[in-house]
Amino acid sequence: PIRKGETILVVLLALHRDPTLWGADPERFDPDRFLPATVRARPAHAYTPFGVGARACIGRQFALHVAVIALAQILTRFDIVPNTDYEL
Ligand code: HEM
Repeated sequence: PIRKGETILVVLLALHRDPTLWGADPERFDPDRFLPATVRARPAHAYTPFGVGARACIGRQFALHVAVIALAQILTRFDIVPNTDYEL
């Protein structure tokens, strides 16, 4: 229960690694998590890298545009190959 006037903090780092939302291995790199049907099956605010509400990121659209442009520039200039031996 949340009482009137109480402050709530959403810890995005924990939300984005919650196994109830992301499965048993939330740290695994799995782009399929963002397939349209999979996204629709999740609660709307399960993934909020830019925050939500009045103090959410004002650079969100800019950042997403730049990311697409940067990715396109990289993909047209380089051949990307998976490195199966890589360990973080
Ligand atoms: C991938 C890129 C980015 C991510 C993941 C990101 C994420 C975030 C997050 C999580 C917050 C805090 C939201 C909250 O307090 O609830 C925030 C705030 C903010 N971001 Fe970003 N951001 C990104 C890029 C940018 C860019 C490119 C700009 C500006 C050009 C920007 C400007 C801001 C500003 C000014 C705030 C403070 C908003 C406020 O407190 O009213 N961000 N961002």
